[in-house]
Amino acid sequence: MKQLKIAVVVGSLRKESFNKKMAHALVENAPETLSLEFLEIGNLDLYSEDLDSNPPQVWVEFRDKVKSFDGVLFVTPEYNRSFPGVLKNAIDVASRPWGQSVWAGKPAAIVSVTIGGLGAFGASNHLRQVLAFLGMPTMTQPEAYIGNAMSLFDENGKLTNESTLEFAKSYMKAFAQWVETFVK
Ligand code: FNR
Repeated sequence: MKQLKIAVVVGSLRKESFNKKMAHALVENAPETLSLEFLEIGNLDLYSEDLDSNPPQVWVEFRDKVKSFDGVLFVTPEYNRSFPGVLKNAIDVASRPWGQSVWAGKPAAIVSVTIGGLGAFGASNHLRQVLAFLGMPTMTQPEAYIGNAMSLFDENGKLTNESTLEFAKSYMKAFAQWVETFVK
């Protein structure tokens, strides 16, 4: 069986991040047709066009790495009703130089996770707009807005909320089918 390679990009650098915990739960509950790998984004120099003529090695490696995946799963918090700058920086880095974006055409999905009650809809929606510009077909259904995150995990960071666990399984099944439709 050929597995589809999926990059998991988490928009929080925090050690005890609920988004990281949710991302791990999504990976653990993914169908076997997917092979998922976390992408590090916290080590990337801040994007400046000045660096494009002689890009930092971490940018080059990041762009190559992104290129090697069949699809991307974004798991993001909401900062001030949008997604965090660290995630925007990673997206910008791999979108350049102009005309050489390595995101283009890769199917994606967005899961937003917050301690708040609104499920970080603002972050998800802003990110969706960016991915549309980048030409990344992004799954529309099911949507994933995970609120009240502090009540979903145990002290070891494991997702213990039964309904969220069931949702994680069905979401990843749908995402696998979504990616398959774009990968020949
Ligand atoms: C937040 N938080 C937050 N939550 C939310 O639902 N909507 C928002 O607009 C914001 N804004 C915001 C701004 C900044 C700068 C911070 C640091 C936090 C709270 C946020 O949901 C909470 O800190 C999460 O725990 C962040 O995700 P991780 O780090 O746990 O994955």
